[in-house]
Parts: sequence; C-alpha cells; structure tokens
Amino acid sequence: MASLLGRLLGLIPPFPWYRRLVRPLLFRLPPETAQQLAERALGVRSFWRLAASLHADGAAHTTMAGIPLRNPVGLAAGFDKQCALLDPLGDLGFGYVVGGTVTFDARPGNPRPRLMRLPERESLINALGFPSDGLDAVARRLRALRRRPAVVLVSIAALDEAETERCMEVLEPLVEGIELNISSPNTEGLRRFQEPDRLRALLERLNARRSKPLFVKLPPYRDEPERENVLSLLRVCAEVGVSGVTAINTVPTDEPRMATGRGGISGAAILPDMLRIIPELRREAGGGMTINACGGIASAADAAAALDAGADTVQLYTALVYRGPGVVREITAGLASRERSGTKSEHMETGSR
Ligand SMILES: Cc1cc2nc3c(=O)[nH]c(=O)nc-3n(C[C@H](O)[C@H](O)[C@H](O)COP(=O)(O)O)c2cc1C
Repeated sequence: MASLLGRLLGLIPPFPWYRRLVRPLLFRLPPETAQQLAERALGVRSFWRLAASLHADGAAHTTMAGIPLRNPVGLAAGFDKQCALLDPLGDLGFGYVVGGTVTFDARPGNPRPRLMRLPERESLINALGFPSDGLDAVARRLRALRRRPAVVLVSIAALDEAETERCMEVLEPLVEGIELNISSPNTEGLRRFQEPDRLRALLERLNARRSKPLFVKLPPYRDEPERENVLSLLRVCAEVGVSGVTAINTVPTDEPRMATGRGGISGAAILPDMLRIIPELRREAGGGMTINACGGIASAADAAAALDAGADTVQLYTALVYRGPGVVREITAGLASRERSGTKSEHMETGSR
C-alpha cells in the first residue's frame, strides 16, 4: 500500500512522471518562472513530508568532515538561495542541503534574462549574480527551521572580508557548517579571492573564529594557468586548515542571450570537467581533506564515478531541473545497492575526511 502510494506520488520509478508530464509543462515557461513554480510546489510541506515518510532511508551512511550524513548526496548551493525551503528539500532524500549563497546586504542580482536552458545538453546557463534577501532575513529563516530532515550547510559569499566574517558569525550557530563561495563567475568582487594570498588572509581570519566545518567552493579550470591557480587555492585551503572544498562551480562562458553577455554552465555539459578535476584535487590534497564533488551529477553512476575519483560526497542542482525530485532517491538507492554489493569507494568506506 505504502509502495503504491509512493509510486502514485511519483517519487520512485518506474513511472517517469516528472520527465513525461511535469517537465514539458515547466519548460514552456521562462526558466525563472518555472523555478518559482517549483518553489511553490516545495512550499506544500505536508506533501513532501508524507512522501518522505513512505520511503525507507537507504544505506550509504557516511560523514563529511565529522558531520554524520544519512547518505553522501547533497543539494548544491543556489537552488534555495534564501533558505526558505530547506526542510522540504531535505524531504527529497538528500543527506545534506546547502542553502544560499547569502550576502550580507540584500541584493537584487543581475538584470534579466539571467537564466536559460540548454535542453539538448541537460544543462543551464545562469548569471543570477547573487539575488539575496540578505543576512538578517536568512538568519531569521534558519532560526525557524524545526525538522531538518537533512544536515544543513549555508553558503556565504566572499565579497568583503568584514561582511563575510559577520555572515559566518551569525549563521554558523544556526547550521552544521559553512561553505564559502569564492567561485561564482557572475559576481565581480568574488574573483579577488581567487588570488591565493587574498584567500589565505580571508581564510586565516575565518578559521580563527570558526567552531564548525568550513568548506571552500572552488572554480573549475580549463587551461594550465587556471589549473595552477586552482591548485594553489587548494594548497592555501590545506595550509590554513579548512575542513574541505567543494568543486566545481559553474563553468564561465560567453552568452549573448544573457543580459550580462556571460554566464556559467551547469549540468551534464560540465560532468567531464568535474570528473577531470576531482582526481587532481584529491592527488594534490592527499587524504586529509574532505572533497565534495559537484557538476553534472544526474545518476547513481555519475555519483559513483565522482566518489571513485576521490570525492567524499556529491552535490547536485541542475539534475533537479531535468530529472525532477525523484532523482535524489534514484541516486541514493543506486549508491546504497552499490554499497551492499561491496563496490563502494574507499572514500565512502572511511567517510571520515
Ligand atoms: C541557477 C543556478 C544558481 C546557482 N547559484 C549558486 C550560488 O548561489 N552559489 C554557489 O556556490 N553556486 C551556485 N550555483 C552553482 C551550483 O551550486 C553548482 O556548483 C553547479 O550548478 C554545478 O552543479 P550542477 O551541474 O549539479 O548544477 C548555481 C547554479 C545554478 C544552475
């Protein structure tokens, strides 16, 4: 009965209700309107809570920098920028959810159009530029979170040293950890912190005050100078002693259809970048640092490839748009059966970074 109801609710295969029914309708709408509708649907909290109650929690328990997780699949930053829907998002089956990116002051973000789909590549281009309700509003919402079915992290923007430090001070007590975003390609001020010495100064300041895990979200690289720079940033993270890194953020691209003329690609188009970069980061970081892999993950096979490449956890965003909310349980179930069959990676076994 429960399984029938679960199937009717469409949260488990085999009926691909999202891809066959919902996505075609949503994709007739402009992407930001579709996102708002999805947020409204997630706002029907009792539905997602009921759906979650119909699913046994799979296995694949792990830890991320000492934080116990029911599974290694996280929601990437950016889907719930205002931290308004973290409980229903947790009900989709994520092991952890990353809210934000949050900025100190409220900001409108970039002019529109600033989000577009590339359906043939299951990818998106965005140039949102951090629309944020600001620190105080987000802190109020996080204080009001009650159930927390998944571990909650919050992403804060590195735009200004003092403001970033204040964001960490206010938000850290309300969540399990902080992700510092130095890598969104759409916000000019952030790139200052892609300069290793500046990043070191900021991290030393944050590290001295933090009492919970701190992760740094790294940009992708596509040529040798960029690679050298990202590996330098990783070394800074290791030397200062942050808990881990998340890689990768969206891949910058010129796009004349966006108001800003540029944007960042996410989704299947960047999976090869992520799978090329993660093993290099793992080699450089050695075993002691948590690595969260992000970029184009849309199936259990993609997630397993990222874990085998050296990641401790995985994150996703764009797959929710193309595959729907059921993708989370498809991936966690796939990872759990892989674990049962004894093919899980060393990183999932230790899960201790
Ligand atoms: C519309 C959109 C908004 C995003 N906003 C943020 C953000 O605020 N902060 C951040 O660190 N990453 C942001 N990202 C990047 C994602 O967290 C992730 O790194 C990237 O999309 C690659 O993962 P995916 O292919 O699973 O989407 C955003 C991505 C998209 C598509």
